[in-house]
Amino acid sequence: MGNFCGGSAKLANASSPYASKNPLSSINNFSSSKSTTTYDSSFKSKPSTTASLQSFSLSDFETAAESFNKGDASTTVSLKSFSLNDLKTATKNFSSNSYLGEGGFGCVFKGWIDELTYAPTRPGVGIIVAIKKLKRESFQGHKEWLAEITYLSQLRHENLVKLIGYCSESNNKLLVYEYMQKGSLENHLFKRGVQPIPWSVRVKVAIDVARGLSFLHGLETQIIFRDLKASNVLLDSDFNARLSDFGLARNGPTGDKSHVSTRVVGTRGYAAPEYIATGHLSLKSDIYSLGVVLLELLSGKRALDEDNGSREKILVDWAKPFLNDKRKMLRVMDTRLEGQYSKKEAQTIAALALQCLHADPRIRPNMTHILPALEQLRAPKDTPRMYSRA
Ligand SMILES: Nc1ncnc2c1ncn2[C@@H]1O[C@H](COP(=O)(O)OP(=O)(O)OP(=O)(O)O)[C@@H](O)[C@H]1O
Ligand SMILES: [Mg+2]
Repeated sequence: MGNFCGGSAKLANASSPYASKNPLSSINNFSSSKSTTTYDSSFKSKPSTTASLQSFSLSDFETAAESFNKGDASTTVSLKSFSLNDLKTATKNFSSNSYLGEGGFGCVFKGWIDELTYAPTRPGVGIIVAIKKLKRESFQGHKEWLAEITYLSQLRHENLVKLIGYCSESNNKLLVYEYMQKGSLENHLFKRGVQPIPWSVRVKVAIDVARGLSFLHGLETQIIFRDLKASNVLLDSDFNARLSDFGLARNGPTGDKSHVSTRVVGTRGYAAPEYIATGHLSLKSDIYSLGVVLLELLSGKRALDEDNGSREKILVDWAKPFLNDKRKMLRVMDTRLEGQYSKKEAQTIAALALQCLHADPRIRPNMTHILPALEQLRAPKDTPRMYSRA
């Protein structure tokens, strides 16, 4: 079985975030045909003035990464440095049988490694991992690879995906993660032929996502996730949700600043309007994206629907007028739920989504407000309930 990823093998759920030559056109004249398109723009001509991961060089990182492996860095999680050969063996040379999916970074493959030594094994032996392979020589891609390792080597939380290791051999950059059996939330909400996820699971996913985001926003050095979307929410065998993809994450503003100024990167349909317009990134940019994901959970509709013929549909634009009316709000609900949901819970989530989607970022709530409001839907203990028809 030959090497599967790259070139024409792309199944195209996202165009490369690194491809844009003309930044403004990538923002204003979105031409890619999929809703998960990640855009990348030097919208602001001024480079970022805040200290960030972008100022790290790869060699700096590689030295740091080596020290993780030697156990020198007490605050960091030990990551395994894999050789390319290890990962070829683990994936049967990145064969089509091992292929899991593709995003802007590259293709993702399923591999097998020994649970204790992390040595590659054969299929069926040891544990499964997901291996992401950077698609091609790309400076931006390398930066994302670096950011992913830098953040995930320092963060552990049950609602963040676990990074097990990485590979950096000449231009080959790969990332090795715990395998999330049920794949992405995107696949479960929107993929044709996939059983729709029931209401109770949707509420649980909303809470898990909010827990992951609360953790990031609550850190001493706050982290802006920047690319919250259904495809970056991964689900384990019990539908526990974890945030994945820290390649675009940034440290939040310090002191009394409300934002950091950055190049505009992110995903259409999910990115906050003020961030697209000004490059001002804040914790409230994540809150907007959370509002979009909540809407997707309610409606079963994509943030950006480009598959329905001539005109793309922006979920927020369509749904917002319904959200501030308790009865009208029910029109937004996913018909595939066939009415099997709690109206009250749906209304609570819709009201929260509306707040998150406020045009003025200052008015959007913080995670300290959103998380308890969602958790209270399952407090004190989740008791089985009958759902009435909407
Ligand atoms: N840890 C994992 N376990 C299981 N499947 C995974 C894992 N990581 C990724 N995948 C699968 O690979 C697909 C591609 O993931 P990837 O993160 O590369 O792209 P994306 O999130 O779809 O797009 P983007 O690059 O714009 O973030 C996912 O949709 C998912 O199905
Ligand atoms: Mg992703």
